Amino acid sequence: MGIASSQQNNCTAGKPMIEKKIFANGFEYLHVSNQSAEAEIALQGAHLFHYRRHGDSPLLWLSSLSHFEHGKAIRGGIPICWPWFGKHSSNPNLPQHGFARTAIWEHVETKEKDDSTTEITLQLKETPESLSLWPHSFCLRLQIIVSETLQLRLITTNCDSDNFVITSALHSYFGVSDIRNVRVSGLDQTPFLDTLTMQREVQDGDIRINQEIDRVYQGVANSLELSEDNRRILIQNEGSQSSVVWNPWIEKSRGMSDFNNDGYQNMLCIETANAMEDERLLAPGATHTLGVIIS
Ligand code: BG6
Repeated sequence: MGIASSQQNNCTAGKPMIEKKIFANGFEYLHVSNQSAEAEIALQGAHLFHYRRHGDSPLLWLSSLSHFEHGKAIRGGIPICWPWFGKHSSNPNLPQHGFARTAIWEHVETKEKDDSTTEITLQLKETPESLSLWPHSFCLRLQIIVSETLQLRLITTNCDSDNFVITSALHSYFGVSDIRNVRVSGLDQTPFLDTLTMQREVQDGDIRINQEIDRVYQGVANSLELSEDNRRILIQNEGSQSSVVWNPWIEKSRGMSDFNNDGYQNMLCIETANAMEDERLLAPGATHTLGVIIS
């Protein structure tokens, strides 16, 4: 899609740079670049859809059929699932994975800590529309640190006069060369719910993928590793005891209009979550942080 206009802040040759860009349909995003990496973040959903360390290939998978359109979640990158993960627990008509990924967030702060480290903060607060879906006042902040590592911290504050419960996820789509060569370690002996069969099982060894997978692991340790050939990605979670591992494989890929038919071969979601039993109850004024450092 063509870029209609672009507004540059703080641009000096060789120095960190943030540019606000707009697709021809009005869809806005930030282009961040510094001496270690570059990233792109849509204001819809505070959705980071590209990150690449200079000299490396992109870290995250992004479907070439993805919509960059208001009201439709981007397929790839790191969608923010909030204030519920997956289907709503009591109302199937509410949007899957909550409303934060299709809401328009505000870019509230940029900190250029040094030439190689840029911190961007985006914020979402309740609106009449959010209150019609979820009747609570909240302040949600996403801090993204673009540096040699990629760091995200999703900070929920309860601004209501009642408790509320959230489930959520940083729904990372990792790009891989060939899904059949991928190994996920760090979950050996971890219990999981297989949401395809609704059976509860326990992981035995590393995860290898040769068919559809959709699992919610519980009691997850802080560090997971995705590896293939000579590449290793370390995923360090904060404020999370659950992880979701998802690959739609052949049939489900074909059933999604924004997913390339063979896209399943080049992606794997490993999601840093507060899902199912790992839901969080926040009292008025309380804050919870769900974070990930990817290196
Ligand atoms: C995963 C879920 O987190 O997200 C899957 O475990 C789901 O069940 C997938 O299919 C994609 O969801 P969506 O709403 O982005 O198509």
